[in-house]
Amino acid sequence: MTISFEGRVAIVTGAGGGLGRAYALELARRGAKVVVNDLGVARDGTGSSDAAQAVVAEIEAAGGTAMADGGSVTEYAQMEAMVARAKQAWGGVHILINNAGILRDKSFAKMSPEDFELVVRVHLIGSANCTKAVWETMREQGYGRILMTASSTGLYGNFGQANYGAAKLGLAGLAKTLALEGAKYNVRVNTIAPTAATRMTEDLFPAELLERFRPELVVPAALFLVSDEAPTNTILGAGAGVVQAAYVTLTRGVALDEPTPEAVAANFAAIMDRTGEIVPQSGAEQAMTIMQRLQGG
Ligand SMILES: NC(=O)c1ccc[n+]([C@@H]2O[C@H](COP(=O)([O-])OP(=O)(O)OC[C@H]3O[C@@H](n4cnc5c(N)ncnc54)[C@H](O)[C@@H]3O)[C@@H](O)[C@H]2O)c1
Repeated sequence: MTISFEGRVAIVTGAGGGLGRAYALELARRGAKVVVNDLGVARDGTGSSDAAQAVVAEIEAAGGTAMADGGSVTEYAQMEAMVARAKQAWGGVHILINNAGILRDKSFAKMSPEDFELVVRVHLIGSANCTKAVWETMREQGYGRILMTASSTGLYGNFGQANYGAAKLGLAGLAKTLALEGAKYNVRVNTIAPTAATRMTEDLFPAELLERFRPELVVPAALFLVSDEAPTNTILGAGAGVVQAAYVTLTRGVALDEPTPEAVAANFAAIMDRTGEIVPQSGAEQAMTIMQRLQGG
């Protein structure tokens, strides 16, 4: 099976460098027309540059088709204008990779409310803005592929990244509901948790691992998740050519004899027991399993 993006229009946010650039280059190489969005900021979200334009030049030099967009994902009107420009030039938008992001790392004790809010605004609200800006188009087309960028921090935690982790798990949650709402319209929504040596992680990777964790090795998982054959409602981890799946599971649980905290304490080991756990496909499924437990199931 060859995965082609011929005839598709893709938007990649934060594609002026790092992972977004790698996604944009490969989408274009495989035939997509690509909107390279990037505000061109520093890692902490300050400043600006024409990073998007440089990636467009790279794509064009390789024979591909792309346009630059210097809008900020935090500004809904700018994202609407970006989508309108893509539709006007190329007739639709089929793929959105929400990838733009910044860091303001500090322990929660030292983190200012402003740094918390800004990081949530760029990652979570920014992705919601871009998604909202393409949502109606994708529903009307009866075709859409959307990828949210989470992180191991969101899924599992990381010291010094409370703001980032909150935003990143929020994105996985956003994807789960949009996967349900988009299903009828062939709009599939997935989440990726990448691991790559970029400027965002440059101080974390030892020099000998920089090459092994190059961004290009995250591209296969990301592109599969926005292809015709994409699943929906999945969370994939990807780094250095290894692809993993992350699940939000639910244990069978215990129907308490007495509705008391003491009964929770007495049954805690059984509540936590993962034997027979499931992966609910919607929130309603949790309520159904409660009913089953009450009926002795
Ligand atoms: N590198 C990793 O190991 C890793 C791990 C987990 C998650 N991620 C996520 O992957 C994504 C890409 O990160 P990266 O590692 O390539 O870092 P990066 O800093 O190279 O890329 C982020 C890009 O987003 C752009 N950007 C920032 N704010 C923006 C805004 N308001 N509007 C438009 N563009 C904006 C930046 O200019 C930058 O080019 C991010 O969402 C990041 O959180 C990366």
